[in-house]
Amino acid sequence: MSDQGQFDTLLRETRTFPVLPQFKAQSNVRDPAVYTQAERDPEAFWAEQARELTWSTPFTQVLDWTPPHVRWFYDGELNAATNTVDRWRVGPSKNRAAIIWEGEPGDRTVLTYDLLGREVDRAAHMLTRLGVKAGDRVTLYLPMVPELVIAMLAAAKIGAIHSVVFGGFSAQALRDRINDAGSEVVITADGGWRRGKTVPLKANTDEALIACPTIKAVVVVRRLGDHGPVSMNHGRDWWWHELMEQMPADPFPAVARNAEDVLFTLYTSGTTGKPKGIVHSTAGYLTGANTSCRTVFDLKLDDVYFCTADIGWVTGHTYVVYGPLSTGATVIMYEGAPDWPDRDRYWKIIERYGCTILYTAPTSIRTFMKWGPEYPGRCRLDSLRLLGTVGEPINPEAWMWYSEVIGHSRCPIVDTWWQTETGAAMIAPLPGLTALKPGSASLPVPGVSAQVLDGQGRPVDPGGAGYLVLTKPWPSMLRTIWGDDKRYQDTYWSRFPGKYFTGDGAHWDEDGYFWILGRVDDVINVSGHRIGTMEVESALVDDHRVAEAAVIGRQHDVKGQAISGFVSLKEGVESSPELVAALKQHVVDTIGAMARPEEIFFTAELPKTRSGKIMRRLLRDIAEGQALGDTTTLADPQVVESLKQQYEEREAD
Ligand code: PRX
Repeated sequence: MSDQGQFDTLLRETRTFPVLPQFKAQSNVRDPAVYTQAERDPEAFWAEQARELTWSTPFTQVLDWTPPHVRWFYDGELNAATNTVDRWRVGPSKNRAAIIWEGEPGDRTVLTYDLLGREVDRAAHMLTRLGVKAGDRVTLYLPMVPELVIAMLAAAKIGAIHSVVFGGFSAQALRDRINDAGSEVVITADGGWRRGKTVPLKANTDEALIACPTIKAVVVVRRLGDHGPVSMNHGRDWWWHELMEQMPADPFPAVARNAEDVLFTLYTSGTTGKPKGIVHSTAGYLTGANTSCRTVFDLKLDDVYFCTADIGWVTGHTYVVYGPLSTGATVIMYEGAPDWPDRDRYWKIIERYGCTILYTAPTSIRTFMKWGPEYPGRCRLDSLRLLGTVGEPINPEAWMWYSEVIGHSRCPIVDTWWQTETGAAMIAPLPGLTALKPGSASLPVPGVSAQVLDGQGRPVDPGGAGYLVLTKPWPSMLRTIWGDDKRYQDTYWSRFPGKYFTGDGAHWDEDGYFWILGRVDDVINVSGHRIGTMEVESALVDDHRVAEAAVIGRQHDVKGQAISGFVSLKEGVESSPELVAALKQHVVDTIGAMARPEEIFFTAELPKTRSGKIMRRLLRDIAEGQALGDTTTLADPQVVESLKQQYEEREAD
C-alpha cells in the first residue's frame, strides 16, 4: 500500500472530530431532536421546511406517494424567482448583495437583490417577446456570467423550464440536449474565458443548430466582444444587450406555478449512451435546496458563500443559485480557472470578499495540495467559518489538509453526498450537531432515510458494505426522466422495488455513518463529473477504423478516476500515436474535454467471458497495473497478456 493509502487507512480507523463548541453556539440547528422528530414524522418535518418558502397559494396537502411517482405540497402554488429574488426586494435586504461576480480577466460586478430582480424582470419580458410561455423549454449554454443566473430566474419567473448545458460540452452534446428537450430558444454567449483562452460557445451553438429543428431564436450575451467575433444569423440570432435595452422597466408579474410543475431539467450521464434529462419540480426542489442551505451549510443572511461549481452541473444549480438565493445570502460567482493568473485565485477571492463558506470538490482539494500550502498561505482566510465538499469520496488525507491549511482547524467540514437526481444534499453532517469522520459523509440529513443493502435487497449489518438506497421519498427527488418515464422506473426503482437505487456502493459503520465507495454501475466519476462509459465507447466506435471499444474508470491521484479506453481495430488497421490522438480528439468533439481518455490500449480482441460479456474488472486491473484478478473465465487468456505488456511498456516510458 502507498504511504498515502496507509495514512488514509489510519485516519479512517482512528479519527473522529467532535462538534466545535464555538460553531455549535451560533449554528442554525443545535437540538439533536431534529433527527428523531424528522424520523418519526418526515411529512411534518418537510411541511415545516416548505413553509419557509413564499407561497402565492399555501399548500394543504403534503405527500402523495404512489411508487415510483411522488407529489409534494401538490395543491400549493409558488414561483421560484419570487422565492430567490423578489422576496428579498422588500425592506433593507433589497440592497444586500445577491451576487458578487468576478470574471477570469479580473472584471467585477455586484448585483444587489433589487438589481438582480430588475434584470430578471427585463429578461422575463424578453423571453416573453421571443414567444416563450409557461412550460416551454429554454436551453442555456453560457459561461459563469451573471446573465446565466438572470436567464434561469427569468425562465422560472414566466414558468418556462430551463435546461442548462455545461459550457464544456461539445456542439454535438449540446445538439442532443436541445433536441431531447425540444427547446425553442437557446441563450448562449460569444464565448467565455478559461485559463486566459476563449471558449467558442457561439460557434459551438451554430454547429449544434445545424440539426435542431425546434430552435426559433438564439440570444447571444456579449462576453468577449473584440476577443471573440461571431457571426450572427439574421432573423434567428439576437444580442442579449440589445434586446434587454428595448424592454420595459416594469416589474414582470411572476407566473404562479403549481408545486409539481417542472422547474428545470438537467442532463446527466447514465449507463446507456443517451444522457438522461433529470426532471425537477418547483416546490419540492426549492424545499430541498433551501432546507439544506439552512441546515447543512448553516447559511445566514450575512454569509458570503462561495460554491466553486459551474452552474452547468447540479451543484451549481442548487448551491450557486436556488439554495443560497432562497435563503437571502450573498453568493460569490467566479467565471474561470483556479490557477489563473496564479494558483492563489480562489484564496484571493475569499480574502477580497470576506467569504465565510467555501464549497468545492475533493479533486480540487487534491490539486491545491499538490500546488502546496504557499498559495493559500499568501491570503487571509480567517473569514471562513465552514467548508464543504461534494462530488466524490474525499480521501482522509485531503480532508485533513482542507481542515488544517484552509480551515485553520476552526471550520467544520460538511462532506455532502448527493446526486443530480436527489436535487439537494442527502447524506451530510449538520455542522452544529454531527461529529465528523474524515472520509465519511456521515448521516442522512433529517427527513431522509438511507440503507445499505446486499444483492438480495436485505439491509447489511453495521460494519458491512453493499448498495446504497434511499427508502422514503423526499421533496427534491427527481420526478421522472424527460420524455422517458419507463427509463426512470427501470433505472432507479427496479433493482430494489419501492426503494430508490442510487447506483453507489457504500459501507455502513458501527456508528451508522455512511462511507460512499463510488459507483457500482457503468458510470465514471472524473474530477466529480459523471461520464457514462457507453457514451465514450460509442464515440470511439464512431471512428471507422475501430471495431470494438470498452471504457473503464481507473484510479487517479488527482481526478479520483481517469478514463482508460481499450480498442480493437478493424482488420488491416495499424495502431499509431496519430490514431490515439485522433480517437481522443473525437471523444472531445463528441462529448467534451472532460471525457478525453487518459490513455488508449489496443488489443486484438477485448477480454470477454465465454458468454461474451466484457470483463471490465479485468480491464481496470490492467489499467491500474494491479495483479490480475481471476482470469479463469476468460475466453482468450492471451488477450490479457498483450494488454499487460502494453501497460508495462507505457509505465517504462
Ligand atoms: O457517486 C456519487 C458521487 O457523485 C455521484 C453523483 O454525481 P452527479 O449527479 O454529477 O452529482 C454530483 C454532485 C452532487 C454520486 O452518485 N458523489 C457525490 N457526492 C459525493 C459522492 N461520492 C462520495 N462522497 C460525496 N460527498
